[in-house]
Amino acid sequence: MPIETEQKGAGAGAVATQNEKGATQSADGIGYARGRFVALDEPVIPIDERAHQFGDGIYEVIRVYGRRPHLIEAHLDRFERSAAAISLAQERTRGELAQLIDDAIERSGFSEAQVYFQLSRGIVKRDHPFPAVPSHLTMTVRPIDDAKFQGIRERGQRMILAPDIRWQWCYIKSLNLLPNILTKQKALDAGVNDAIFVRDGWVTEGTSSNVGFISGGVLHTHPADEHILHGITRQVVLSLAGQIGLRVSETRFTPESLMAADEVFTMSTVTEIAPVVEIDGQFVGQAALADDSFVRRLQRAYRQTVSVH
Ligand code: PDD
Repeated sequence: MPIETEQKGAGAGAVATQNEKGATQSADGIGYARGRFVALDEPVIPIDERAHQFGDGIYEVIRVYGRRPHLIEAHLDRFERSAAAISLAQERTRGELAQLIDDAIERSGFSEAQVYFQLSRGIVKRDHPFPAVPSHLTMTVRPIDDAKFQGIRERGQRMILAPDIRWQWCYIKSLNLLPNILTKQKALDAGVNDAIFVRDGWVTEGTSSNVGFISGGVLHTHPADEHILHGITRQVVLSLAGQIGLRVSETRFTPESLMAADEVFTMSTVTEIAPVVEIDGQFVGQAALADDSFVRRLQRAYRQTVSVH
């Protein structure tokens, strides 16, 4: 438990304090780098860090509900798959990493939070070949302001379609997010919430979410192949679909079928399940906003999974 709990109310830039375990924390969150807990603004990463120089690494984002890291096993599974896909060896066992995540949450003192962790190919003089140095794990735990996401979940999002300018291996949760960031900013500059990627005429996913739609009692979403991130929220949604009377189709679909859908939605760890109500200036999926829509039922069913573990 933190000693100086009054720091919790402080705004950005709050001075970091020590809790009873000697961890550095502040109202903004805590960090972990180079094998120790640090203040978020502590300069701990050397210039020669491969994540910094090459984006040579992978990451995960876990939502913490009531101090528990939700769906941690699924996130650790994907972390291991991403690491293996880029031939990145880990120094820690899965159990050690899980323990570190638990410690970080406890030290942060936050019960509603977001854990971000990334693994890079280490700290070593810049050179392209894989180096013979240990990988480097960094982590942050920050409080989550769920009210912002709740608004999106209630009222829905306005989106644009955008070319999927990413590489071929989108199933890897790679640190290289430049196409995602450029496309997100393009959406914000267009005055909407986000963008939906289209590759070769097929809808793939959002800039940081998976996309699904419901028409005629069938939930459609892109197959979990190399062109999308295999979202953990997506997987939960697919497992809940049957319960609320939906059939599932994991086949590619066009922007036209999205525009004509009864309900359109996104899925992600932090935003959970959120309706999409406009695409490229046209109203879409308005049925999703009704109290008894499939999207509303999925939202409620998802929250049930949060409270039952
Ligand atoms: N983004 N697709 C992309 C491209 C994503 O970046 C994400 C998650 C998802 C949804 O995956 P999940 O349900 O496992 O969160 C799909 C995280 C939250 C991020 O980058 O912040």
